[in-house]
This record gives sequence, structure tokens and C-alpha cells, in this order.
Amino acid sequence: MKFIQLFDRSQIEARALELGREISDHYGEEPLVCVCVLKGAYAFFTDLMRNLTIHPTMDFVRLSSYADQTSRKSKMVFSKDMEIDIRDKHVLVVEDIVDTGHSMSFLLKVLEARGPKSIKIAAMIDKTERREVDVNVDFVGFPLDKGYIVGYGLDYAEQYRELDGIYDLKFSEA
Ligand code: IMP
Ligand code: MG
Repeated sequence: MKFIQLFDRSQIEARALELGREISDHYGEEPLVCVCVLKGAYAFFTDLMRNLTIHPTMDFVRLSSYADQTSRKSKMVFSKDMEIDIRDKHVLVVEDIVDTGHSMSFLLKVLEARGPKSIKIAAMIDKTERREVDVNVDFVGFPLDKGYIVGYGLDYAEQYRELDGIYDLKFSEA
């Protein structure tokens, strides 16, 4: 396996600073709940939150998918749900990477049913080539068309989350 660096720590930090300002300007004094999607978003979430000039409340969710035998499709559930009530509040979901869009589309649907004032998505990486569901990422760290990305929270088989840069993982030596 080869790791090709796409973004180093200083590039990620610079982008998180810009996004932090943009998000702060967007919400101003309105009550905001920032939701970190575990596990992958933990590193980006931390950096982004530190760069806000506003004071949101924070919460965490974790999604998991399983194969549904009857429909032969994969189904999503929370393996950890939110604890904060989001009714009439603005919600910003912070995700590591949006790929097919299925995870975000599930999460948005469930959270929308709880009556928030608005829901937006911030994602460190918006990977567009394999998108299957129409999900719009409102605050994009870095757009990419393809690749399997690790580092800065992102894993391959639960490894490489600790890397302080973002890498494209190449599985063959070709
Ligand atoms: P989606 O439902 O296909 O949009 O992607 C859901 C999840 O798959 C993301 O939140 C990641 O946890 C994981 N994922 C998708 N692409 C990558 C990648 O390139 N590297 C690591 N994880 C990924
Ligand atoms: Mg994820």
C-alpha cells in the first residue's frame, strides 16, 4: 500500500480557520447545535470548533449500517443518538467525508423530523464521483472527485486515523 499526501496539517488548519469564520458569520448569535459524526469527524470537528467565534452546543452521533435480509439493501441506524434537543435550533452536522451520500441523507431525514430551525452540513471532504443520493454539502473543506482517503480521523479498517495529514491510499503498487 502507498500513501500519497493530498493535504498536510498546515493546509488543513488553514482551511479549518477559513471555514470556522464562514460558519461563525453565517450563524451569528442564533442558537446553534454542532453535531460530530463519529468516529471519522473527530479530528476535523475539534479543529473547526476551535476556530469558531460563536458558542454552539455540541453533540455526537454514530451511525452504523447493516444488511437488511428482506430488502437486500443496507439499512442505517444510530449506534449512538444525540442527547441535545434540536427543536427550533439551527443544526450543523460535521462529517469527515461525504461519498455516496447515503449516510448524510439518512441523518438529515431523521434530524429533520425533530423540528430544527435549519440543518446544514460541513464536511472535511466532499467526494463527488460516487454520489448516489442528492446531498448538498454547505461547508466543504476540500472537494475531491475520487480516491480512498485516510488520515485526520479517516480510517481504513479502523487504522490511520491518527495521521495529521490527509492521504490517498493506493492499494496496488501499479
Ligand atoms: P457515504 O454514506 O457513502 O456518503 O459515506 C459514508 C461514510 O463512509 C463516511 O462517513 C466515511 O466514514 C466512509 N467513507 C467514505 N469514503 C471514504 C474514504 O475515502 N475514506 C475513509 N472513509 C470513507
Ligand atoms: Mg463517517
